Amino acid sequence: MGTVSEIASTYTFGKDITVNRLGYGSMQLAGFGVFGEVEDRENAIAVLRAAVEAGVNFIDTAEAYGPKFNESLIHDALHPYKKGLFIATKGGFNRPGPNVWVPNGNPDYIQSNIDGSLERLGVNQIDLWQLHRIDPNIPVKQTFKPVIKAVKEGKIKYVGLSEVSVKQIKEVSDILPIVSVQNLYNLGNRQWEDVLDYTTKNGLAFIPWFPLASGPHKLADKIDKIAKEHQATTAQIALAWLLKRASNILLIPGTKSIKHLQENLGAASIELTDAEFEALS
Ligand SMILES: NC(=O)c1ccc[n+]([C@@H]2O[C@H](COP(=O)([O-])OP(=O)(O)OC[C@H]3O[C@@H](n4cnc5c(N)ncnc54)[C@H](OP(=O)(O)O)[C@@H]3O)[C@@H](O)[C@H]2O)c1
Repeated sequence: MGTVSEIASTYTFGKDITVNRLGYGSMQLAGFGVFGEVEDRENAIAVLRAAVEAGVNFIDTAEAYGPKFNESLIHDALHPYKKGLFIATKGGFNRPGPNVWVPNGNPDYIQSNIDGSLERLGVNQIDLWQLHRIDPNIPVKQTFKPVIKAVKEGKIKYVGLSEVSVKQIKEVSDILPIVSVQNLYNLGNRQWEDVLDYTTKNGLAFIPWFPLASGPHKLADKIDKIAKEHQATTAQIALAWLLKRASNILLIPGTKSIKHLQENLGAASIELTDAEFEALS
C-alpha cells in the first residue's frame, strides 16, 4: 500500500489549503466519555504520529475533547507541525462530566475557547475553527462576534459549523463566510442528506462525524457481502462509500489502534463500482 497522500484524492479549502480526503478524528484519544486524559498516552501519541507519517494531513479535534487534553496531546505528539498539516478544532461546548455536552455560545466563552485552542495547539493561527453547536439560548450573531474578530486578527483562517440544518448554514453565512459543515452522517444514518447536498452545491466541505457509525460492526449487515468481494473490511467499505458519495466529503475516522488506522487509510485505494455504490445506498 502506498501512503495515503499517494493514493487519496484531495480537497482544497478556500484557494490555498489542500488536504487528503482521508484524515483522522482524534476524539477517541481521551478518557471515558471523552472526558479527561487518554488512558494510554504513549499509544495515543504513537497513533497520531503514525497517521501523519502515513500522509494524513487533516486532523479534527475540539476544545471539548478532554476537555482541553486532546488539543494538548496533539501538540505534544506532533509539534513542530509538519508543513501542510491542517488541524481543525472546535469550540462552544461546556463539559461538566463524562458524556455530558452542554452548548455554550456565550461570546466570552467562545473568546476563551479560541484563545485556549491557539495556546494549546501552539499556533498563531487556527486553520479551521468550527462552532461545535449553535447555542439555542444565545443569538448566533453574538456567538460569532469573537470569531469575526479572531478572523480579522489572523487568529483563525477558516470557519466551519457542526450539526446544523440548511437554514442555520444560511443564517450563519449571512454573518460571516464559512467553509465547512461537520454533521453526523454514515451509511447507517443519513438524516442530513439535504445538508450534504447543500454543501456540495455551495462549495463547502462536508465532514461526516461518526463516519464508521462509532463502530463499523454496526454496519456489517449492510456491507459484508461487498466487503468480501473486495477482500476489504467493513470499515474500509464504509469509508470508500463516503468517498464516492460526494467529492466534498472529508473523512475523519477515529481509532486508538494503529492497525485500524492503517486499515482505514487503505479505504483510499478501494474503488466501488456504480452498481456497488447503489446497492449500498
Ligand atoms: N462534530 C461533532 O459533534 C462530533 C461528534 C462526534 C465525533 N466527531 C468527530 O468525528 C470523529 C470520528 O468519530 P468517532 O471516532 O467517534 O467515530 P467513528 O470514526 O465512526 O468510529 C470510531 C470507532 O470505531 C472503531 N474503529 C475505527 N476503525 C476501525 C476498524 N478499522 N475496525 C474496527 N473498528 C474500528 C474505533 O475503535 P478502535 O479504537 O478500537 O479502533 C471506535 O470505537 C471524531 O474523532 C471527532 O473528530 C465530531
